[in-house]
Amino acid sequence: MNIKTEFNPKIKNIVLFQSDLLKWYHKNARVLPWRSNPTPYRVWISEMMLQQTRVDTVIPYFTRFMNELPDIPALAGVEEDKLLKLWQGLGYYNRALNLKKTAKILVEKYQGQLPSDVKTLMELPGIGPYSAGAIASIAFEKAVPAVDGNVLRIMARILASREDMNQAKIKKQMQEFMLEVVPLNDPGAFNQAMMDLGATICLPNGEPKCEKCPVRKHCRAFELKLTSQIPIKVSKKRRGI
Ligand code: ADE
Repeated sequence: MNIKTEFNPKIKNIVLFQSDLLKWYHKNARVLPWRSNPTPYRVWISEMMLQQTRVDTVIPYFTRFMNELPDIPALAGVEEDKLLKLWQGLGYYNRALNLKKTAKILVEKYQGQLPSDVKTLMELPGIGPYSAGAIASIAFEKAVPAVDGNVLRIMARILASREDMNQAKIKKQMQEFMLEVVPLNDPGAFNQAMMDLGATICLPNGEPKCEKCPVRKHCRAFELKLTSQIPIKVSKKRRGI
């Protein structure tokens, strides 16, 4: 199934969906240190920390990291011991090593700046499609999506899709579909609104708080009383058959 052609009409009014979500976000956004002053450096570091770690855990690490290593040259020149100490407790230490590797590349090849486009960002160590989309949209206002499990769950419900959101093919289609859904105006806020919606309202395991949802009037699963069944759960064994 092609999401582009089959799913697109199912958000009847994409502009209204965007503006309902943005309005809610600008009133209710979680206050997080990387959201004030979202420079490319701060956004990049926060996204790397958030890849495998919860928001609450990341906050004190992020603040300390910024105090100790306030910019790309400082990170490029840091002793590995010091870097690993700043990271101690966050786990997945290859993330920290990739940060330094990338900072050195940025100093040597990119005049000490992060590139602003998704494709070039993804060539850098540690930056995958989700992080590249988050950095490009939040730090550079590029209208690109950041598709993770939250976005897949939210959109499965909005569209009342019974596709298996764990399938690579479906994820790829959703990535393409979201390119059309992210607004040109305020894309970073839109993507962070999706993150907040997924973290606080459109919860997994059949327990969404639909009564508080700013986009429930756009939600097919809500309309059809299917929010506890969508996204569908497909056992690993059967996947791909
Ligand atoms: N998870 C990943 N990136 C995030 C962000 N910018 N804000 C909140 N949660 C996130």
